[in-house]
Amino acid sequence: MANTTWTPQSWRDKPITQVPAYPDADKLANTEAQLKKFPPLVFAGEARDLKHQLADVAAGKAFLLQGGDCAESFAEHGADHIRDFFRVFLQMAIVLTHGASKPVVKVGRIAGQFAKPRSADTETIDGVTLPSYRGDIINDIGFTPEARIPDPERLLLAYRQSAATLNLLRAFASGGYADLTRVHEWTMGFMKDSNTYPRFEDVARKIDDAIDFMRALGLNSDNTPSLRETKFYTSHEALLLGYEEALTRRDSITNEFYATSGHMLWIGDRTRQPDGAHVEYFAGIRNPIGIKCGPSLSSDDLIRLIDKLNPGEEAGRITLIGRFGSDKVAEHLPRLVDRVKKEGRTVLWCSDPMHGNTIKASNGYKTRPFDRVLSEVKTFFDVHRSLGTYAGGIHIEMTGDDVTECTGGSVAAITETGLKDRYHTYCDPRLNASQSLELAFLVAEELSALRPERRLRAAG
Ligand code: PEP
Ligand code: CO
Repeated sequence: MANTTWTPQSWRDKPITQVPAYPDADKLANTEAQLKKFPPLVFAGEARDLKHQLADVAAGKAFLLQGGDCAESFAEHGADHIRDFFRVFLQMAIVLTHGASKPVVKVGRIAGQFAKPRSADTETIDGVTLPSYRGDIINDIGFTPEARIPDPERLLLAYRQSAATLNLLRAFASGGYADLTRVHEWTMGFMKDSNTYPRFEDVARKIDDAIDFMRALGLNSDNTPSLRETKFYTSHEALLLGYEEALTRRDSITNEFYATSGHMLWIGDRTRQPDGAHVEYFAGIRNPIGIKCGPSLSSDDLIRLIDKLNPGEEAGRITLIGRFGSDKVAEHLPRLVDRVKKEGRTVLWCSDPMHGNTIKASNGYKTRPFDRVLSEVKTFFDVHRSLGTYAGGIHIEMTGDDVTECTGGSVAAITETGLKDRYHTYCDPRLNASQSLELAFLVAEELSALRPERRLRAAG
């Protein structure tokens, strides 16, 4: 590690942004001390496994699918919500694996995705101004002065919810739910009416054929773990550094520090100042990490960040998550990719087509037009194709619920007036189940076009 003075708390001496104003500093310190004694949520070895898988993605041998809620909430915590998310996520992963003919590394924005950076410290409704909602781990979404007071107790609630969510996810991933022989069962009632459903059924049938063939060769889910179970990892934006510090532990095998609040953590677009507190914290943990890259990131700063965060040039350590907007991606992504390539750095390029495409609908709802989301993803693939680099993954805000938060989609196209029907997000608008699957098909087509045998056929 380049920084020899690093400790889990050394971020406290650096300039920091997005800090909640806790009224009772002692209560906060006591709560953090309590968290320090709690068991880790994930193990260092798991984070290392993920890092190795991400190194494969960076080398073009796999693809990363990262997604989940913008903000998890205490109110929405339930088995159905988690199961429906996991099911759509698996469906997307199957479509991508089939299209790419490569493994898909599965990373949820889940089991810890609670703290939200905000553009403004306050929010005004009908002439009343209150502190902004900063995520359930900090304060409450209710629009009253009491609700908006940051409460340290929420750190404990978020920790316990993360543990329960992770427990169910681990059971789903390895307890039979993700068994490929059940691929048809992952289809939900409301999706049967959608026109992506027959496309999914088509992929599912091809998988069934492949499974029948393997069974004839003696391979089945009883004797082949890769058919029966999958690996699913968790991630979140490490915004609330007191919480992260409390869950930072020294790995007994390597003696290095790991964040144990999730397998992969990322730095948000608002907190990636190279000399700031968040970058300091990330420099010392050995987990795989993401950096959100928006239009304001200069290529010099990007290289400074990579130098600070990955001085040992470890493959799989850094995922760069571009979030430019469909109208800006063609201008900004090439300059960053070009520079990283010239400097010879190893990174994984991933596209977040959500955060640069948020608009206010005429009726006041915060939304994202689905065609802009698709357009940013297409440009992401085009840019990498023309620069000879690998478009390694997508990062999306999605839910398995049938919400109406992003407009468009070819299934039951959501209009601006329809947004009010099932607008449930605690923060940003998410893709619903059918929009998520539609996006997966688009990405699968792009990946399929990259397959060497397809390229040869097209050239011949
Ligand atoms: C997010 O991922 O929810 C987020 C706030 O993203 P960004 O930092 O890219 O704005
Ligand atoms: Co968001």
